[in-house]
Amino acid sequence: MTSVQLRKEFLDFFEKKGHTIVPSSSLITDDLSVLFTTSGMQQFKPYYLGEKSPYGNRACSIQKCLRTSDIDEVGDESHLTFFEMLGNFSFNDYFKEEAICWAIEFLKEKCGIDEEKLWFTFFKGENDLLEDKESKDIFLRLGISEEKIFGFGKQENFWGPTGNEGPCGPTAEIHYDLTGKSCSLGKGCKPNCKCNRFIELWNLVFNEFYQNKKEELSHLKQKGIDTGLGLERLVAVMQNKSSVFETDLFESLGNSRILADHIRAIVFLAAEGIVPEKIGRGYILRRLLRKAIRENGEIIDLAKKVIEMYKDIYSELKAKETDILNIIQKEIQSFGKALEAGKKEYNKIKGDITGALVFELYSTHSIPLETTIAWAKEDKKEIKNIEDFYKLTKEHQEISRAGAEKKFGGLGKEAKSEEAIKLHTATHLLHSALRQILGNNVQQMGSDINSERLRFDFSFDRKLTVQEIKQIEDLVNQKIKQNLDVKCEQIKLEEAIKSGALSFFKEKYPDKVSVYSINDFSKEICAGPHSKTTGHLGDFKILKEKSSSAGIRRIKAILK
Ligand code: ALA
Repeated sequence: MTSVQLRKEFLDFFEKKGHTIVPSSSLITDDLSVLFTTSGMQQFKPYYLGEKSPYGNRACSIQKCLRTSDIDEVGDESHLTFFEMLGNFSFNDYFKEEAICWAIEFLKEKCGIDEEKLWFTFFKGENDLLEDKESKDIFLRLGISEEKIFGFGKQENFWGPTGNEGPCGPTAEIHYDLTGKSCSLGKGCKPNCKCNRFIELWNLVFNEFYQNKKEELSHLKQKGIDTGLGLERLVAVMQNKSSVFETDLFESLGNSRILADHIRAIVFLAAEGIVPEKIGRGYILRRLLRKAIRENGEIIDLAKKVIEMYKDIYSELKAKETDILNIIQKEIQSFGKALEAGKKEYNKIKGDITGALVFELYSTHSIPLETTIAWAKEDKKEIKNIEDFYKLTKEHQEISRAGAEKKFGGLGKEAKSEEAIKLHTATHLLHSALRQILGNNVQQMGSDINSERLRFDFSFDRKLTVQEIKQIEDLVNQKIKQNLDVKCEQIKLEEAIKSGALSFFKEKYPDKVSVYSINDFSKEICAGPHSKTTGHLGDFKILKEKSSSAGIRRIKAILK
């Protein structure tokens, strides 16, 4: 079966079981606490909590997903940055019995998978959480032999939530035995074993809990099902391949696994309107692009192949083809220029290549450490005192931080009046409102606050309409009226970025940062200070909206 047929089989199967077919949502979610959509359930989050689903109580989808957590490990048999997730969902409708039976039925009857090859896991309980005996019993009742059913703890068999909080619960998983050989690492081989005998195919999540921001669990009022089956992995199994890269999905994408993986992610990210940048989502795109370019492939040709392969399934690829190719072409040029300038400097180095010189190349020409290492390798030279590179990077971050506090993040020393602090908090509300109304491509480009007004520069390519300005004002004023708490926490930079906190100039922050959140509405890495609540800010009014420079708009606003 081809991947195209499989997509159809999956949706048909669940449609016949009363599910509404729902199109994939965007890779960019509304949830400020995650950078990208990482699973099928994200677009359905409210329906697990009781909000009425426009799709009825049963939905199924094929969701575009992007996971950056193993960006550096990509290239093994089964991990991908971009992938498609097949899923069926129940909102206060069917539960474990149907979810398990249908999953097995689909794999056996529609995919023609031999039941002998399937192994199963369930949640065995941990701390206060009880063992999921029900799932184990269902497996047994279906005639699965006990030797192929294993209980695991929270690490393996408990899923969610995505982002800061949300529905979550114990899981049952279906694994596929790739080799049929007993463990190469010793005895007692079972699913999740490091020996790569098994591949995890299907994750069935039983949403029974809600996890809040403090990581406390409470029971949900209603029960839900959320399942996820990696399309690429299932295709590999069905096409009898030991790796996703050997399936028809990768057939035209060349021999480099990293390149084949990254080019798919690049095309789909660019199709969302994301452009390479030093921060946030754009930073991920830039990193993928630069890695792909360094791999030396014909990446434009590969991008065209990806578009060709997916354009009938994801129409945005067709619509945005020119933009996608332009974004890639432009980055090839700018990275090329940086490399050229950097290489020139590199060639001037007489004597040892030191960590300090590597830092010099990095800070003046954005030459990644890996590139300098590769150049040195070609010249059969070693890099001396590499630790200086890390030390200097850190110092540089701290110095920039002090400057950035005034320029971009917090208020400078001279502007800490009561009024300026209020305007600072209003600036965060404005930033989130802009992104909500105009789209997540809006990025802060600068901010200046005194005790009379705020000034905010942001990336956007046209004049705002009168209606948009009104909507933005209204949204900010609504958040002020709701009298929301402004919370501050100190967390590691990596964690802050992962949690989706808005940030500037990623490379210039110290290891630990303050993150200010205003409810779910706003979350930013920032030096403060801020008002404690939004209620007393006053009436927010935009005085002016104009161009600041190419692609950048400027808003001046006051609190009355
Ligand atoms: N949401 C579950 C996952 O992503 C199914 O694995």
